Amino acid sequence: MSKMPASIVLVGAGKMGGAMLQGWLSLGLDGRAATVIDPYPSPDMKTLAEKHGVRINPPAGETAPPEVLVLAIKPQTLDAAAPEIARLVGPGTLIVSIMAGKTIHNITSRIATARAVVRAMPNTPAAVGRGITGAAANAAVTPAQRAVTAALLSAIGRFEWVATEDLIDAVTAVSGSGPAYVFLLAECMAKAGVAAGLPADLAERLARATVEGSGELMFREAATPPGQLRQNVTSPGGTTAAALDVLMAADGLEPLMGRAIAAAKQRARDLSG
Ligand SMILES: NC(=O)c1ccc[n+]([C@@H]2O[C@H](COP(=O)([O-])OP(=O)(O)OC[C@H]3O[C@@H](n4cnc5c(N)ncnc54)[C@H](OP(=O)(O)O)[C@@H]3O)[C@@H](O)[C@H]2O)c1
Repeated sequence: MSKMPASIVLVGAGKMGGAMLQGWLSLGLDGRAATVIDPYPSPDMKTLAEKHGVRINPPAGETAPPEVLVLAIKPQTLDAAAPEIARLVGPGTLIVSIMAGKTIHNITSRIATARAVVRAMPNTPAAVGRGITGAAANAAVTPAQRAVTAALLSAIGRFEWVATEDLIDAVTAVSGSGPAYVFLLAECMAKAGVAAGLPADLAERLARATVEGSGELMFREAATPPGQLRQNVTSPGGTTAAALDVLMAADGLEPLMGRAIAAAKQRARDLSG
């Protein structure tokens, strides 16, 4: 597969790391090019690794510096893992970190061998290959390394570069935390359905399927802006319009979402470091 690295080490094979490895292998990465470092790999990870010839936890000193090292451990474990990671990284190794809240400076200051570093923020639909990841690179990252990063992170969904690292806080606030806002929307619709007289289980099924189907429609109609899709299903004076009059009022969803995303962005900024 083009742009897949010749060698890759995945540090942390949990939910996100596991989803990424699965994506790379399904895109044609040769499993023998991959090494997983994780103290307690799950049975599923062991099965996947065995099937594809991926090495797990080779003895220290047996791993040559890889072309890419992907850091998918929890942010709070970085300090403990840093010495081992530093030993794996060579001068030509690209580090791609998906750790929430850990800045490029946090990484280069703890891993003395780190040079080229990408900081990426994926989201949970990555588990089904439908995530979106925003990423920023430091000045040491070459165009070829950018291409490899895009190939690797596209294995779990869509991928976007941001111009500067500080924008990662905004990416976190919109798409990183965003799946929870959509799940909340389904919850609120279900509760309102109960208030409108529906049995709770039916209201939940209706709300859930509506969010699922609308997401799929938006996915398939990629060229149509969401506002247009909304207008396409809103007849003047109809039932949808009556609801949208409430949701789109001056104190409706737009200012509320604005405050929510601003709060998430501020929290991301506070947590970084
Ligand atoms: N899940 C998301 O939606 C999401 C979104 C954006 C960013 N992220 C970021 O992605 C990262 C991983 O999240 P996750 O949900 O995949 O977490 P996770 O399932 O807990 O995965 C982390 C994995 O790293 C392992 N690990 C711990 N210490 C290690 C060490 N020293 N060396 C190697 N592996 C080690 C853990 O093992 P044990 O379980 O045995 O400790 C676990 O398997 C986090 O930094 C998170 O901020 C996640």
